[in-house]
Amino acid sequence: MTTVRRVPRWADVAPFLVTRPWSPDPVVRRLARCVCVDDLAREARRRVPRAVLDYVETGAETERSMHRNRAAYDALELRPSTFEAVGEPDTSTTILGRRASAPIVLAPTGYTRLSHHSGECAVAASAEAAGLPYTLSTYATSSIPDVAQAAPGGRNWFQLYLMKDRDVSLEHVRQAREHGYDALVLTVDTALSGAKWQDRRNGFSIPPALTMRTFADMARRPRWVGDILTTEPLRFATFPEDSHYARWGMSNTLREQALRPADITWLKERWSGPVVVKGVLSVADALAAVDAGADAVVLSNHGGRQLDRAPVPLELLPHVVAAVGDRAEVMVDSGIRTGSDVAAAVALGASAVMVGRAYLYGLMVGGRRGVDAALGFLTAELAHTMSLLGAATVADLHPGHVALGQTRPGPRAGTHT
Ligand code: FNR
Ligand code: LAC
Repeated sequence: MTTVRRVPRWADVAPFLVTRPWSPDPVVRRLARCVCVDDLAREARRRVPRAVLDYVETGAETERSMHRNRAAYDALELRPSTFEAVGEPDTSTTILGRRASAPIVLAPTGYTRLSHHSGECAVAASAEAAGLPYTLSTYATSSIPDVAQAAPGGRNWFQLYLMKDRDVSLEHVRQAREHGYDALVLTVDTALSGAKWQDRRNGFSIPPALTMRTFADMARRPRWVGDILTTEPLRFATFPEDSHYARWGMSNTLREQALRPADITWLKERWSGPVVVKGVLSVADALAAVDAGADAVVLSNHGGRQLDRAPVPLELLPHVVAAVGDRAEVMVDSGIRTGSDVAAAVALGASAVMVGRAYLYGLMVGGRRGVDAALGFLTAELAHTMSLLGAATVADLHPGHVALGQTRPGPRAGTHT
């Protein structure tokens, strides 16, 4: 049979031509170029100064922890129960006794207004609309009451960096209670702030110091600079405005550098709601936290920002879930960028995951609307993955759905115990 060819005609092509309506709003145009969190990361690069992007994006020292986090998700395989497939799965679940629209919690991130001037309030409002818990950092650039006001119906959690001066921390606890926060998250992996080599190369610090180099970097993003200079000055807003904590709150010497399980018990006794212990990296420490009263642990290497060459939380997850059983919830973070990552972590026994950079990229691209987009991508991808995996509900996700890949040679089972 011979193929008959002819000259293409415009009239044949025209019916297939679709044009996207052009929007005068730059945020709408930017978000229209994104279909996933990695796309938001690409767009974010064009919005904020290089040093700010690097502060958010890079890891500690050689960044091995950070890259291994991602490598573990990249290497795993999802195994569908094809004959259990459903069209519209239900992604909702219970986290610490209350419903959430998906097993996703927004992780605490310090100095969020550096990413976008709307900062923590925009993120909390987005989380409220999405039906997900939001965690406000001790090192936030918005105050405990302001965030409660921005998301009055939201599930707001407060992340505590315990201070040597316990009265300062007790004031955080008091404010969290007064403003209806749902849970306290005690972060335990920060005896010292991470050694972020790239921040040092960039001459970047918090609070930011204006050197010739940082000035030149910022001058290339005049809109970002304009937004920062014309809004509320950056400070550690969970501390009293007139105290030295407002400027130097992140200093290692102010923070408790020798946290012990007894501190978890101390906190439990002063807070009526759940206490979550974040930054646990071994079975033994998870059990110690639970014995001390933790209602949940978050397996986390801080997104690779603290100890370099730390265990990969995803690989540790099945061992901790087996050891803790139903005595406490086990959550996981570090490296989650897609809804299929979320599905894998939940299948391996996590009650929920935390995400940090994923929503910060969205915030950089479009403030509140960018965070909406990031959370929308994650939850839609989770639903899609559950459908194709054959999980009608979150409870239907099980370890048989996941095969962890071999990311490095050598024995794995038991190495973390
Ligand atoms: C963080 N993280 C963090 N954790 C915490 O307990 N208190 C904090 O103040 C901060 N600050 C912070 C700032 C920035 C810019 C990032 C990216 C992260 C860690 C965070 O809660 C979470 O553990 C990681 O972000 C998880 O890894 P991914 O999702 O970013 O890969
Ligand atoms: C960080 C600190 C704020 O990871 O926890 O940047």
